[in-house]
Amino acid sequence: MRILAIETSCDETAIAVVEGKGGIKKPSFEILSSLIFSQIPFHKEYGGVVPNIAKREHIKSLPLLLEKTAKKIDLASIDQIAVTVGPGLEPALWSGIEFARELSKKMKKPLFGANHLKGHLYSFLLDNPEKKKIFPAIGLIVSGGHTILLYMKSLTEYKKIGETRDDAAGESFDKAARLLVFPYPGGPEIEKAAKKGNPEAIAFPRPMINQKNYDFSFAGLKTALLYNIAGQKADWDKFNKGKAIKPENADDLAASFQSAVIDCLTGKTMRAAKDFSARSVILSGGVAANKALRGTFRKKTSAAKINFFAPQQKYNTDNAAMIATASYIEIMSGKKRRISANGNLGIH
Ligand code: KG4
Ligand code: ZN
Repeated sequence: MRILAIETSCDETAIAVVEGKGGIKKPSFEILSSLIFSQIPFHKEYGGVVPNIAKREHIKSLPLLLEKTAKKIDLASIDQIAVTVGPGLEPALWSGIEFARELSKKMKKPLFGANHLKGHLYSFLLDNPEKKKIFPAIGLIVSGGHTILLYMKSLTEYKKIGETRDDAAGESFDKAARLLVFPYPGGPEIEKAAKKGNPEAIAFPRPMINQKNYDFSFAGLKTALLYNIAGQKADWDKFNKGKAIKPENADDLAASFQSAVIDCLTGKTMRAAKDFSARSVILSGGVAANKALRGTFRKKTSAAKINFFAPQQKYNTDNAAMIATASYIEIMSGKKRRISANGNLGIH
């Protein structure tokens, strides 16, 4: 099944064409095209994503991306169209949905409503791993809006065992970056600075790490960073006036903050892997692009003699190839979803 997928849930406009084969038992994927237009330059000056700018830019970029795709692939060979319906920013989601609806009508091809979180979750399949080594698995999705831990018996049978009680991991990176006066998006900037800093310089808390559950909390960690910066400068006045203060030890703060987030994420995930006798850990979402996080997972899973799966670097952050992959799995398992934007769509 050749799927053309459209992704517009946040600040990346993406169109991909992926060939899925093998059905639910032995799925395999070939990426025929994967194009992404990043909107970062348009949101940078606001320090975060502005929903109406995102919508405007998606509307502008989608026809251009389709035109580029059509230069590589005969669109008549497409069997199915898929579009992200949630979760995400609703104005942004609608721009993709409306474009997909028109395309589906024009091309006379069926349209599937895809779940963005499932796109992340299944993105490791783009590398066609050997399926017998995967399940049971613990899946960790770490993105800008979500931090979710899943116990997976198979690709389609899973249950949520934990999630964040406040900020998502990516959101905490973005907020920390703002405090350290790094540009948006914060995750990659923290990672860059952390390489130059000492992760043991500041002993930040590891919230909830010893609690016997699989939940996370990152809001307190961000507050600890704020207190540390303010304490150093003893300049609450400036903070209260909303003035940004770039601390001199920003690299150490970034490294120590990143290390705390990594300890929380890997600590809880590895505990779940042990408790559920998992054969593997599957990591996904924008934060999974963080090399220090991947490196720690690689070390810990190897010490625990279990497998580790994460998509190639470029498929961690938002893209449409993962949306095609998730759509294939869901279509093959008989799933149906309304073609209507749902900003808060969960992992089901
Ligand atoms: O999955 P994604 O592209 O979009 C959502 O679905 O939210 O994730 C974006 C998030 C942002 O919070 C961004 O700061 C974070 O992923 N991120 C990173 C890195 N690259 C992106 N966080 C830490 N280290 C990175 N290298
Ligand atoms: Zn995402």
